[in-house]
Amino acid sequence: MTAQLLQARELLRKSTRIAVLTGAGISAESGIPTFRGAGGLWKDFRPEELATPQAFGRDPQTVWEWYLWRRDLIAQAQPNAGHRALVELENRTPEFTLITQNVDGLHDRAGSRRILKVHGDIWINRCRACGREMGQLPSEPLPHCACGGLLRPGVVWFGESLPQDVWREAEHAASQADVFLVVGTSALVYPAAGLISFAQQNGAAVIEVNLEQTTFSDTADVCLRGPAGEILPQII
Ligand code: OAD
Repeated sequence: MTAQLLQARELLRKSTRIAVLTGAGISAESGIPTFRGAGGLWKDFRPEELATPQAFGRDPQTVWEWYLWRRDLIAQAQPNAGHRALVELENRTPEFTLITQNVDGLHDRAGSRRILKVHGDIWINRCRACGREMGQLPSEPLPHCACGGLLRPGVVWFGESLPQDVWREAEHAASQADVFLVVGTSALVYPAAGLISFAQQNGAAVIEVNLEQTTFSDTADVCLRGPAGEILPQII
């Protein structure tokens, strides 16, 4: 085991207040494509045509088709060793918060309990008009709410605010943490990425787990290069 792995393991072992920020990279080994980098969704699709309120306003059918395609991919996927290691970490840590940018629900399926979904949840259907949420999607090509409004996926689109209560809890957890573990995110999308420096400014040691260098790698206290599904079980 390398010195960096040992250092990360020691930091996590000693800590009683841990916050974790995950991104698409943690689900990559489950077969769910990331957004950026090789094979990333934003290589083949344009976010402004699929992941903005304006795109949905222009062409709700196309946007729904894309989200239903992603739901199918996710439904076939299983949580991996990285997701499971974070459940183990939660079980043994007195104060633990998992902040995820992922909308896939794989942390829930792995068994994590305290999850803050800052970018929403792809499995939620929300009425654009009245805000009502429903789990089951009516089987019509363009699904509507009982009030007549269009249903949309319960994710945060570019240009939209994050759910404020969830965000406040995420900021609080980041400010209180003595270790902030960042897994599989390019850390390019704000405000979520800002939690890393916020946690560090408030005294947390930052551990980064990623296949590649990111903009935060230079300032992280420990950088671990490799797949989350292999690294997390070694440090937890
Ligand atoms: P990105 O696709 O931007 O970044 C994925 C990161 O995971 C990259 O830094 C990869 O190097 C890394 N990675 C890939 N496979 C990995 C593995 N097996 N183990 C460890 N790391 C791995 O995804 P996010 O940072 O999550 O927004 O993207 C942030 C937001 O941008 C998403 O939540 C989404 C997107 O547009 C919304 O949906 C609002």
